[in-house]
Amino acid sequence: MKKIEQAKQILQENWRDGFTIPTSRLYPFQWMWDSGFVSMGTSEFNLKMSLTEIAKMFTGQWDNGMLPHILFHSEIEKTYFPNYDFWECWVNQGASLNPKTSGITQPPVYGFVLADILQKHWNKPDVKDFVRHIYPKLVHYHSFLYNYRDPHSEGLFYIFHPWESGRDNSPLWDESMDQIEITPGAIPEYTRRDTSIADASERPTQQKYDRYVYLLELGKKYKYDGHQIAEESPFLIQDNMMNAILIKSNESLIEIASDLGLDAGQVKEWQALSTANYDNKFWSDELDTYVGYDLRHEKQMKHREIGGFVPLFASIPSDDKATKLNDYLQSLSARGYYLVPSFDVDSPLFDSRRYWRGPIWPQMNWMIYKGLKNYAFDDTAKMVKDDLIHLIENLGFHEYFEAQKVVADGLTKGYGGNNFSWTASSYIHLCSVD
Ligand code: GLC
Repeated sequence: MKKIEQAKQILQENWRDGFTIPTSRLYPFQWMWDSGFVSMGTSEFNLKMSLTEIAKMFTGQWDNGMLPHILFHSEIEKTYFPNYDFWECWVNQGASLNPKTSGITQPPVYGFVLADILQKHWNKPDVKDFVRHIYPKLVHYHSFLYNYRDPHSEGLFYIFHPWESGRDNSPLWDESMDQIEITPGAIPEYTRRDTSIADASERPTQQKYDRYVYLLELGKKYKYDGHQIAEESPFLIQDNMMNAILIKSNESLIEIASDLGLDAGQVKEWQALSTANYDNKFWSDELDTYVGYDLRHEKQMKHREIGGFVPLFASIPSDDKATKLNDYLQSLSARGYYLVPSFDVDSPLFDSRRYWRGPIWPQMNWMIYKGLKNYAFDDTAKMVKDDLIHLIENLGFHEYFEAQKVVADGLTKGYGGNNFSWTASSYIHLCSVD
């Protein structure tokens, strides 16, 4: 039975003063890419909520263009670590102080989010006006990625913290993270909050957390200036997924500009550079998938993982490469996995329960579904959609889900937070498409 009403209710209950929290207690503020996915969901039934959410996100934009990964709209909520006071963003002169924010970013989803909403509501003048108003701010955000995060001017930006990737705890980051040595006094004392709210076996280890704090301190030390961070950070990675999302969002900005008569000259230049370099940098012939690039150690990161499928969403791969990605997804399904596990099921690092090390994530399925449709892989797209809908209907609106069919079918609930906003939003979205 469809649970659309329940999904809408979750979004309404997670609504705060102009934005949607991902889930209460565990994530009590506005998260950047969550908000993007959520506003596409709310745009299906409450346009006002959707546009208000996006406008609220941009109230946290920094002078250099950065959209921070968290906006701490409420100062009452002290249960979260690291809270706004730990980030000390005031060290950067152009940081937003109202709302207070984190000092890093997240996947640049807003280009395709705006295009999606404009496409659904193309006949409403107020939506067009809204998009016209946000457009230059969004171009400013992309300029931040190209100007501060691309030291070799390749059109491919870097991240210096796993939290920027949105796939916080993926085994992808282990090698770089493990090389960081924490000497006594290198990081301040801190108290984690996540493990007192969620099951510790589903959360990152303490060893990881110390390194998260180390990189945060590095950002602070350099006033969150991308040029200086690139000189020193031991974690300096061009993430194939985030750069595919940037390319998709550029494409959306170019379409929007053409529809609304805006100037996209600069975006077209960026796009030409990014698309020219993407495949060379990220495609692995050895693995037949896209992989990340470690800019500090100058090498590809040879792992199969969920970000490798996102280029389909940005129409990046040739038909030949796309077919390889599609065949692999088909084989996973035939081997008894729900689609799409977040990490290589054949790797010793695969962990079907711990977050980003194996489980299925709703918003990822949404992007991969769209990507497969771009290449007319309709059967696989249907599996990606139906698997997620099935998991949600059986296990609830959780943050993420078990990928092994035999295990998942014996469970009574999903993993991580419950009544989760992007799960509700992705559900509404996927139930509305063929
Ligand atoms: C976790 C996820 C991240 C998400 C956040 C809020 O940190 O890894 O992608 O944005 O939760 O839902």
